[in-house]
Amino acid sequence: MTIMKTGVYPGSFDPFTAGHMDVLRNALSLFDEVVVGVLNNSGKRPTFSVAERVEMIQRVIDAECLKNVRVGSFDGLLVDYVTQCEAGFIIRGLRAITDFEYEFQIDATNRHLKPDIQTVYFMAKPSLSFLSSSTIKEIGTYGGDIRGLVPDCNYNIIKERLSNA
Ligand code: PNS
Repeated sequence: MTIMKTGVYPGSFDPFTAGHMDVLRNALSLFDEVVVGVLNNSGKRPTFSVAERVEMIQRVIDAECLKNVRVGSFDGLLVDYVTQCEAGFIIRGLRAITDFEYEFQIDATNRHLKPDIQTVYFMAKPSLSFLSSSTIKEIGTYGGDIRGLVPDCNYNIIKERLSNA
């Protein structure tokens, strides 16, 4: 019997960037299946609703013909969502040393809650290491060019939303 290795790639993804895409591709080279989990964080005021973020990620999956990926959303604790997805791993990206402290804290919390769930980190492509969803929002809001920084299939919807923000 082969045991499927499933990882959950969680995040706010507001919006999903080219950097997220890079992490997702790397994760797919290691895991049998990846679930992209969009955090439904009612405390934050997102630019895109959870439904829109899920839809945009599904569009990327379809446009890139990615196999063995599904997208969903969750609220509550990440470790509970990972268990619900029957996954054993959490996937996160690291861009710079400044990400480390935040990730260290998240990892320690998750390990305290569910020691059996391990987190696997992928280093960002150096050419995308400056990129974050907030950077995209800032560039787009002030009329800068976000082409290449977000998946092509979502370029128009993101550009339009940000230019009307
Ligand atoms: O892309 P983000 O916003 O940095 O992702 C943060 C995320 C979703 C991984 C984190 O906020 C999270 O897991 N939230 C769910 C609540 C939870 O489980 N908290 C305990 C770990 S910090």
